Amino acid sequence: MQESDLDETFEMRTGAIKIHRPEDFEGMRKAGRLAAQCLDMLAPLVRPGVTTGELDRKAFEFVMDHGAIPACVGYRGYRHTTCISLNHVICHGIPSDKTLKPGDILNIDVTVIVDGWHGDTSRMYYAGEPKVKARRLVETTYDCMMAGIEAVRPGASLRDVGRAIQTIAENEGFSVVRDFCGHGVGRVFHDAPNVVHYAEYKDRFAGLQRAPDIELKPGMFFTIEPMINEGRPDVKLLKDGWTAVSRDKSLSAQFEHSVAVTETGVEIFTKSPQGLDKPPYA
Ligand code: MF3
Ligand code: CO
Ligand code: CO
Repeated sequence: MQESDLDETFEMRTGAIKIHRPEDFEGMRKAGRLAAQCLDMLAPLVRPGVTTGELDRKAFEFVMDHGAIPACVGYRGYRHTTCISLNHVICHGIPSDKTLKPGDILNIDVTVIVDGWHGDTSRMYYAGEPKVKARRLVETTYDCMMAGIEAVRPGASLRDVGRAIQTIAENEGFSVVRDFCGHGVGRVFHDAPNVVHYAEYKDRFAGLQRAPDIELKPGMFFTIEPMINEGRPDVKLLKDGWTAVSRDKSLSAQFEHSVAVTETGVEIFTKSPQGLDKPPYA
């Protein structure tokens, strides 16, 4: 998401971080499970020769067949159920007639609405066999997301989440994308807080940037969705207004879960029911 996402239909983004009730967790479990099942359904379909548009149509049918709403259709003028981001595309890749080639790596991101609750999740997929470096990027990005999730508990800071992610990415020689972040989620798709995936970095112009030191409390719902680049973190937006690519054209990877802070730690709403949390899936 980006800073300016203020156009929710049913409930406004207020800036306050919502504390949800125990019964709200059940709503998020249902939405999160369906989103994860959608990504499970796609796993065997991702192979060389298939188009990203075909994968998106399968996702649309799946969501509709389960009586849910694809949250991205109509969202700020977006027209698809998924974002499919190939190779050097960081996020918000638009499904199209483009055919997958052997060795491609791709992220598929889906958000479903079930009973008003948003389940938002994404995973990486391989078309055929990835190169060694691509596989290492994907594995590291998964480890980054999971380390961020493991830093979630009452009393921790959102900055701890960012630090866990940044440390792993940079230890592997990769970089954390700063121009997109995770977000509060629930009845609102993109809510407060912004969940940045770094603890701090030095901006060439603006100086030291630090993740906000926000204390985590039981009942907060948000996504953790790090985008990790093989090269520089810098982003370029294509003329379609959506597709974000790495400026240096280096590979980029992303995983996303919707999670809650619980009384004792963290709950993941979007775990794969089939255990297909990271590739290879075959
Ligand atoms: N699912 C994306 C996220 O993780 C948002 C996509 S918005 C869209 O926040 F309009 F591009 F689909
Ligand atoms: Co998200
Ligand atoms: Co998403």
